[in-house]
Amino acid sequence: MESLIVEGKRTLRGRVRISGSKNITLPLIAASLLTDDPVVVEDVPCLLDVGIMKEIVSEIGMGVRCQKHSLYLDASTVNRFSASHSLINQIRASILLLGPLLARFGRAKIYLPGGCSIGSRPVDLHWKGLSAMGVTFSLGNGYMEASSDRLRGNHIYLDFPSVGATENIMMAATLAEGETIIENAAREPEVVELAGLLTAMGAIISGAGTYTISIKGVSSLKGARYRVIPDRIEAGTFMIAAAIAGEGVIIENVLMNHLKPLTAKLEEAGVKVVESKPGTVTVTPPTSLNAVDIKTMPYPGFPTDLQPPFSSLMTQARGVATISETVFENRFRHVEGLTRMGADTWLNGQSLSIRGGKKLWGNRVQATDLRGAAALVLAALVAEGKTEIQDIHHLERGYEDLPLKLNNLGGEVSRKMPQQEHYAQIP
Ligand code: EPZ
Repeated sequence: MESLIVEGKRTLRGRVRISGSKNITLPLIAASLLTDDPVVVEDVPCLLDVGIMKEIVSEIGMGVRCQKHSLYLDASTVNRFSASHSLINQIRASILLLGPLLARFGRAKIYLPGGCSIGSRPVDLHWKGLSAMGVTFSLGNGYMEASSDRLRGNHIYLDFPSVGATENIMMAATLAEGETIIENAAREPEVVELAGLLTAMGAIISGAGTYTISIKGVSSLKGARYRVIPDRIEAGTFMIAAAIAGEGVIIENVLMNHLKPLTAKLEEAGVKVVESKPGTVTVTPPTSLNAVDIKTMPYPGFPTDLQPPFSSLMTQARGVATISETVFENRFRHVEGLTRMGADTWLNGQSLSIRGGKKLWGNRVQATDLRGAAALVLAALVAEGKTEIQDIHHLERGYEDLPLKLNNLGGEVSRKMPQQEHYAQIP
C-alpha cells in the first residue's frame, strides 16, 4: 500500500482553498435516483469515496457524466436494485441507496455497508424508520432485501440523531403517501443541504436543521441543479493544521457558521481565528498553546470527525487535555501512531488524555481510517525528522489533494509506493 512521507518542522504559510463537501455530495448522488429527470451537482470534490459512489449508481444503470467538478446524473436508465458487494462494502454511504430505491422502485437489495472502522456502524435506525413506513426487510448472508408496495408516511422517533438514518428516511418520505415526521433528527449541515436539493426537486420538506423534520409525500420529483457547499471537516482540518504548524495561514471557501465549536475550542487554546471577509479565515497560533478539553457530540456540538486532528494539536499544548468521544465507540485508533511519535497519552474507556508539550519524533506509523490518517499527517508536520504514514489510501477517501495543498503552503509531503526507496514528489 502507498505511503506518505512527511518532513517535519515545516512552517505553513499562504492560502489554501477548501473543496466541496464529501458528506454532502454522497447523499446528493443517492437523491438523484428519485427522479427520471437529469440532476446536476456542482462543486463536487474529486475523492475516492465519491468515485466509488459514482461506480455504485452506474452499476445499477444510472447515467453518470463528470465535467471538472460537476456531475451530470440521469436515473431514467436505472434497471437494477442492487449493486455488487465489492463496491457497497467500501463506503458507508452506500446504505443511502436504500431510501431512494424503495421510494422509486419499491425494492432494494443492499449489502451491509463498509466505511471507516471507527465502530460497529449498525443500520438498525435506518431499518426501524423505513419499517415504520411499510417496508419489509429480510436478512441474507451479509445483505438485506427490502420491499414495499407503497411507502406510507409515519411519525418516526430516532433513538439517536443519526445523520444517515435521517437522510435515508427523508429521501424515502419524499415519495411516500402522506406526511412523515422525523423526531430527534440529525441537525448536521449535510441534512440541511440534502433537504435543499430535494426541495429543488419538488419535495415538500420543513424543519431540516432542527430536531423535527416534516416531509409531505408528492407523486413525483423533477430534475434540479445544486451546488455543494464547502467541506466543513476539511476546513476544520486545515484550521487545525494552521494552528499546529502555521504562521497566519489564510483558508478560503469556508462557512464559519458550521465551525463554531472548533473555533471556540481553538480560541480557548489561544489560537487567533479571524474571518477577514465572509468565507475567508486567517488562523494564527500563539507562542504557547493551552490544553483544552473537548467532548464530541452530534451537530451543533464538537464534530466527531475533527476529534482525531484536534488530538494531534493537543500533543503540542501545555498541560493535560481530555478528549471524550461520545459518537463512535472506536475512534481512537490514530492514538497508537501518535504514541509511536512520542506523544504522552492514556485512554480510559471513551476518554483520551494527552499530556502535551512533548517533542514528537518522525516514525513509521499506520493510517487506520480517514480522519485518523489526517491526524497523523498533522502530527508529522511538527515532528522532528521524517514520518512515513502507511496505507494512505484512507486519506484519499475524504480529502481532495491534501498533500498538494500542504505542499503549496510550504509543507514537504511526498508519496512512496511499497518497496520503493525514493519518494515521488507531489507536483
Ligand atoms: C455520517 O456517518 C458521516 N459519514 C460520518 O463521517 C460522521 O462521522 C457521522 O455522520 C456523524 O456525524 C457520511 O456522511 C458519509 P450516524 P453516519 O448514522 O451517517 C449510530 C467521515 O469521516 N447509529 O450519525 O454513518 C452509529 O453507530 C465519516 O467523513 C446506530 O446506532 O453516522 C454511531 O455511533 C466518518 N444505528 C452514531 O449513531 C444506526 O442505524 C452516529 O452515526 C445508525 C447509526
